[in-house]
This record gives sequence, structure tokens and C-alpha cells, in this order.
Amino acid sequence: MISPKSKPSLPSIVEQAEAELQALGIETGRAEWVRSTYVTTDTSELAALAETRDLRATAQWARRLRSIDLTELSPVEVRKCDRIRVAQVLWAPNDLRDADELPRRISSMEGTYATWHYRPREQSERLDLEGLSRILSDSRNPELLGDVWEGWHQLGATIRPDFERYVTLANHGARDGGFEDLGALWRSRYDMDPREVDRVVEGLWREVEPLYRLLHAFVRLRLSEGYGKTVVREVGPIRAHLFGNMWGQSWRSLLPLLSPSSPTAPQDLTKTLVERGTSPAEMVRYGERFFVSLGLPALPSTFWERSMFVRPQDRDVVCHASAWAVDTRDDVRIKMCIEITEEEFRVIHHELGHTFYQLAYRDQPYLFRDGAHDGFHEAVGDTIALSITPEYLVQVGLLDQAPGPENDIRFLLAQALEKVAFLPFGLLVDRWRWKVFSGEIAPADYNPSWWDLRLKYQGMEPPTERGPEAFDAGGKYHVVANVPYLRYFFAHILQFQFHQALARRTGWDGPLHRCSIYGHPEAGESLLSMLSLGSSRPWPEALELVTGGRMMDAGPLREYFRPLESWLRDQVGSAPIGW
Ligand code: ASP
Ligand code: SER
Ligand code: ZN
Repeated sequence: MISPKSKPSLPSIVEQAEAELQALGIETGRAEWVRSTYVTTDTSELAALAETRDLRATAQWARRLRSIDLTELSPVEVRKCDRIRVAQVLWAPNDLRDADELPRRISSMEGTYATWHYRPREQSERLDLEGLSRILSDSRNPELLGDVWEGWHQLGATIRPDFERYVTLANHGARDGGFEDLGALWRSRYDMDPREVDRVVEGLWREVEPLYRLLHAFVRLRLSEGYGKTVVREVGPIRAHLFGNMWGQSWRSLLPLLSPSSPTAPQDLTKTLVERGTSPAEMVRYGERFFVSLGLPALPSTFWERSMFVRPQDRDVVCHASAWAVDTRDDVRIKMCIEITEEEFRVIHHELGHTFYQLAYRDQPYLFRDGAHDGFHEAVGDTIALSITPEYLVQVGLLDQAPGPENDIRFLLAQALEKVAFLPFGLLVDRWRWKVFSGEIAPADYNPSWWDLRLKYQGMEPPTERGPEAFDAGGKYHVVANVPYLRYFFAHILQFQFHQALARRTGWDGPLHRCSIYGHPEAGESLLSMLSLGSSRPWPEALELVTGGRMMDAGPLREYFRPLESWLRDQVGSAPIGW
């Protein structure tokens, strides 16, 4: 039999758009990779040019597709049209000069951030963010901590003019694209009415807020004992330089101050990794083996050849960790300045979560090669990192013996200092930016309003009087690099939903914090079913595949920390809660 020949058909308009945007997206990715791993005037200029071209083409296609009759398109094509409209986190302004200037302003802020150094008092060297962060996590000298915090945040004054201009230009673009402002564009990326997004956020926050306030009260009590009442009062907010982290977003390095190690506490992972001379690449191998143990395919050899694992000595780079799919298929890479620490061990799992997600959806059409929503993308690696339990570390030979249940509280406290402590920060960064974009916060109020929110949600205040030139939000990477932040808030909720669901898939019925899904392909299969969808379906469907539910829900997070919650309540006793 002769097979019937179908007549060759011309690519549809949606296919044309997809092919052109894919080509431009890949080119932009390459230019950005070179810029981020070799920051110079030229590489920044070339990356900005590519971005402008890409954004303009996206805007043009979105406009063209808006004018066609949707009833002529298949449902898949309709979804692709929707994706084009919200695929990027910027919209090119119609005005050519504005479109040109916008990516340059962002590049300029990123350059300032990437190269900022400060020489703390009584130190001989100027330190970069990694060096300053090391002091914040290790020192217990409040004067030094304050100096380091202040020295880093001096970069805000340099960034501020670029930021103000970026807000204006990005809003021009967003309005040309039919959005009220850039914040409205960002809120349109969640398969729901953008006006509902903040309501969802508020609902989740209310579920976790009591746990945060309890943790805050406990930490204040112990810091006050450790530093004395003149440094940390027993009531009111805590000053932001005392949390062991530049932004007060993870308090994990305070653990030794908060909970004296018991004779049975396991050796800390940093020490083990350092003593063994573990290399950055070996750290990444641990992460890869975890994913492979779930039945996912090993990383391609190009990943190992093209990734950047260490800060180069001879040039400036953007050290903020990130994961890339440069050709949107197999050419996956991570870019990190890996330090041999427990924290970085977990960040590696975070980045590899992006990488394995990218590999899982690479067979989707280009416009669907993305997360179900951006919070899913951020949650995958963190979900895996929740399985880095003491038992897991014994299994992979990084710990001699798992401690008994008497160590559970210490383990959970460490987790809470990272996960629960993060929640208000994850929420406030974009609640602040949304108001900046909408104009509700005027430039003169950038800094006071930033601190209003940090006080309201985190219960923190600045360590020093902030002058009129201060712009402390500019000390956070995502603010200068135009990366939306709500994704991390969602991810911190979702990862516990995923962990709970995958734990059940393995038949686990013990406490959630003790479960590791390492070596459980049945969990991997479930995870992969979600990852391989990419953004081809609305996110509630992706969520349902793994968890059976269609809503983001803080219940599993609360369940995970339940044993800690009653312990914290005992510790806090009659001491005040709140600020
Ligand atoms: N781990 C970093 C953070 O989440 C970078 C990333 O998102 O991949 O910002
Ligand atoms: N990686 C994100 C940050 O650095 C969220 O933890 O802020
Ligand atoms: Zn991430």
C-alpha cells in the first residue's frame, strides 16, 4: 500500500512566531551567558542589544496574534498565544530609544551589584558579597556585623538613578503591552485573574504567619541572651544585621547561638565536606546522583564542560547562582561561585532542580518549555533538598551515624531558620515592587516604604539610621536584575506539598521531616509526570498530578514543622510574641 501523501502545508502563524522567538531566545541566552560569566562594557552592551531585539520581536508577535481570529486556532495554539504575551518579565516599549535603554539600565545595575566591594573596618582587604556574607554568618561582633551590613548597602545610592529610570521605562513597556504597569504583567503569569493573585498570597501568608511570629519571638529571646539587652531588646523588632544573612532571609547560621549542640548532635556537613577536600564539581555530583536515584537521566557531558562552578580570579562575573538552558534543549548549565559549605550543598540541589526541570520539558514545543508557573520552577530542587536528612547523609557516606529522634528538634529548628524565616521576605519584596511600579510608592519613599514592609512582615529594623540617599532594596540581587520574587514565596509553600505527596508515594507514614525520597523511582516517576508537562497546561493540572489537589496550600508546611511548633511555644513561655 502506498501511504497517502499529505500536501505540504505552510507553517501556521503561531508556528512562525514560535520559530522566530526560539531563534532569538537562544541568541539572547548565549549573549547573557557570556555577559554574566565575563562582565565587561562590551559583553553588557551585546547582551542588552540581544535582549532589546528579543523583547521587541515578542511584543510585535503578541500584537499581531492579538488581532487574529482565535476561533481559527487549535486550543494548543491559543495557549501558545497566551504564553507569548506573558513569557517575558518585561515588555519592550514602543518608543525605540526607550526599548534600547531599558535592558541597558538593568545591565548597569547588575554590573554595579556584581562588582561591589567593601573594606570592613580594621580589615586589610576589600571584600565582595561572598566575603561580606561569610562575616555575617560567622562573626558575633555586633559592631563588625553592622559595619559589614552598612558597607554592602552603600551600593544602593549608586544603583538608585538606574532603578528609577528602569521603573519608568519598564512601565512604559508594560502599558504599551496593555498592562497597567510592570507589576500587573508579573501578576498575569499565573493562569488566573491577576487581581486574584494577591488574595491567594494573603491567604497563604495568614496560614504561616503565626509560626513565623513564634520563631521570631524565640530568636529574639535567645539573641537577647547572647548579645545582651542593649543590642537586642526583649520586645520590638530585631535589627537586620544580626540574622547571619545580608537580607535576614535565612537565619540558619544562627543555629549554634540558638541551640547549643548536644553531645549526640551530628557533625556539621560543612566540616565533613571541607575535611574531605570535596571539590565544587564533586558537590554537584552529589546532587546529580540524587536525581538519578529517582530514575531521572544523568546530566549531559556538556553540562560539566560548560557550567561555571567557581568564581574566576581574572574577571568579574555575576556570582548569584542560576541555572540555564542555553539552547533550550540539551545545553543545560549552572553558574555559581560554589563555596564548600552545607548551605551551598543545598543551593546546588536548588539549581539542579531547575536543570532537571528543563531537561524534562525539552520535548515540549518551545513556547511550553517553562515551569507550570515560576514558583514550581523554584520549588523542584528545594523539594529534593528537603530529603537531605541525616539518614540520607549516612546512605551517601557523608555522615557516620544518624542521630536518634532526640536530634529532631535541632534538625527542624535548622530547617525553620531557613524556610519559615524566609516566608515574610519572600512576600514583601514584590509587595514593595508592585507598589513601586503602580506609583503608589514615589521615589522619595522608596527606602522608608521598604523598611515599613520589613518591619511589618519580618519584624526587623535597620541597624543604623538610613539617610536620604539610602536605597536598601538595591542591595538585593532580584531587585536590580528585574527577577520577580513572588516565585520564591510560592516555592516555599509548594515544596512542602510536593515533599508530602512524594513521601506518600514511597509509602512513608512517619513524620514528614524524617522522610528522604532518595532511591525511590516511584517518587521520581510522579515528579517527572509533572515536570515533563512544562507550561503546556495550567498549573493546577500539574499540581494535581503530584499532589491530587489543585490549590497551593500551606497545610503540609505546617504539618512538617508541627513537632517544632510546640517546642518553640514551650521555649517562648510567657515572653512576648510580635513587635
Ligand atoms: N538560588 C538562587 C535564588 O533562588 C538563584 C535561583 O533562583 O536559581 O535566587
Ligand atoms: N535564591 C533566592 C534568593 O537568593 C531565594 O532563596 O533570594
Ligand atoms: Zn532558583
